[in-house]
Amino acid sequence: MNKVLIINGPNLNLLGKREPDIYGKESFDSLLSMLRRQHSDHQIDYFQSNHEGEIVDQLQQSDGSYKGIILNPAAYTHTSVAIADAIAAIETPVIEVHISNPMARESFRHKSFVAPYVIGSISGFGLKSYELALSHLLSL
Ligand code: DQA
Repeated sequence: MNKVLIINGPNLNLLGKREPDIYGKESFDSLLSMLRRQHSDHQIDYFQSNHEGEIVDQLQQSDGSYKGIILNPAAYTHTSVAIADAIAAIETPVIEVHISNPMARESFRHKSFVAPYVIGSISGFGLKSYELALSHLLSL
């Protein structure tokens, strides 16, 4: 059994209701239930926060307990030196995911502070971005 942690940043608690033309109509809960059903031999933990420091705390506290972390830092992707530093500080591999393709959106979304510290980034495949990240982590 492998343990994987998914961390979602701000406003991703509103998935399904938030800008559905960009982020889709499916809630994260329904994706999570599907992933847990599909990978019932693995443990998939989930943490969401709208607060930068809580995401830093979660990354620090999780180090060493998971095969990998799937992180969608949401808007903090484009602003947070603290989250980037936390990823650099821990040993656990982190995959950056985005539902939309930030490179095809406003220019302020083109910069990712976390990208240099993750093992890879997956963007633009809707909620499937998480499935792709999970299947990669489980294959390691
Ligand atoms: C996002 C893209 C970010 O630019 C945005 O701030 C989000 C969601 C995505 O998953 O597509 O909140 O990370």
